[in-house]
Formats: sequence, structure tokens, C-alpha cells
Amino acid sequence: MTDEHFYNDLDATCDQVWQRLGRGAADRRSGFHTVQLASIGLDGTPRVRTVVLRGVDRAARQLRVHTDRRSPKFAELAERPPVEVCAYDPRSKIQIRVRGRADLATAEAADAPWAATQPGSRACYRAPAAPGAPVDDPRLLDPAPAPPADAEAGREHFSVVLVTLAHIDWLYLAARGHRRACFEWHEGRWRGAWLAP
Ligand SMILES: Cc1cc2nc3c(=O)[nH]c(=O)nc-3n(C[C@H](O)[C@H](O)[C@H](O)COP(=O)(O)O)c2cc1C
Repeated sequence: MTDEHFYNDLDATCDQVWQRLGRGAADRRSGFHTVQLASIGLDGTPRVRTVVLRGVDRAARQLRVHTDRRSPKFAELAERPPVEVCAYDPRSKIQIRVRGRADLATAEAADAPWAATQPGSRACYRAPAAPGAPVDDPRLLDPAPAPPADAEAGREHFSVVLVTLAHIDWLYLAARGHRRACFEWHEGRWRGAWLAP
């Protein structure tokens, strides 16, 4: 796909950010389907991990990810909401790096995302041990061959994290000249500027 429509255009570049993130959430083959979510550990040191981008809401400036409330990141995000999210799509040669604050959605707000979750994705929430807990024998945690009769099993561990963006950093690698731009949320709009790559 040609880059002419955004190459030297800040507004079009901002549109590209949201379009590509939106496609990332909708299409598992997109380079932006998984992203790196960085947070601050309870001891003040960095933590970063891969998560699936589950939803994007441009009007609300939000990214949605799902996690197990028993995982360490849940307590970390509750305590220290500032996060950075980064992803690089090698096919388009675009890196999107965003900063914002993470909010843990209420149980009610997680109902619709849970209802839309595939049966296979629910298996990890049914696991009897918390993510990161030591186990004597890993085979004991393998999913049962048949899904449980209760399709709601694991619901109590499912949580939704909403990341509201305040800063976007876009980097496009192009042989004829890289392009880097940043966008700050300021007085109700994204204020863009070019940066040296
Ligand atoms: C491709 C891939 C996708 C993942 N998606 C998620 C996800 O959507 N949510 C999640 O909590 N963990 C996901 N994980 C696991 C996390 O990277 C991480 O190992 C786990 O959540 C524990 O993180 P924590 O100890 O920082 O809480 C994924 C891992 C990989 C490799």
C-alpha cells in the first residue's frame, strides 16, 4: 500500500494511528494485534509483557485489554496507573508507542467483553492457580479436553483494562526518509508535531 496519503501529513498520520490500532484489535493477522504493555512494578521497577489488543475506541481515546485479576499486573495497575504500550508491525514498518493511564473496569463493564470472549480464551481464566504462581507439576494446569458444563466458569478472574491515551509516538521507517511524529492530547484535540526519527 502506498504511503502518499500520510507521509508528510500530520493529521493523516494521526488517522493512521487509530486505523491501524483498530485493525489490530479486529484482525489477529495484524502486526498490531499483540502489543507490549509496560507498567511499573510494586517495587518501582519496570514490567513489560505481551497482551492482545482487544478493542480500540478513538472517541474515548481508549485501548482495551483483558487480563486475569489474579495476575501481578492487576495489582500493579491498580496501584500505579501510568502505562506505555508499544508495538511494531514489520510489514508496514510502523512502530506505535503510546502513553496513558490504565483503569480497571468495573465488573459490570466487563460483562459485555466477557460475553464476547471465545470459549477457548476462557480456559485460562478457569485455571486453578494464579498466573505466575509456582507449580510442582505444570501438567496439572493443562486445560481439560472438554470445556466445562458451566460456560461462566472463570468469570470471577476475568478483568478488563482500559488505557486512556494522552501521548502518541509514531515512527515510520521508509528508505526515502523515516517519519516520526508525536501527538499530545491538549484541550480536546490531538496536537501533532514532527520529530527527528
Ligand atoms: C501472544 C501473547 C498474547 C498474550 N496475551 C495476553 C493478554 O491478552 N492478557 C494477559 O493478561 N496476558 C497475555 N499474555 C501473557 C502475558 O504476556 C504475561 O505473561 C502474563 O499476563 C503475566 O503477566 P504479569 O506477570 O505481568 O501479570 C500473552 C502472551 C503472549 C505471548
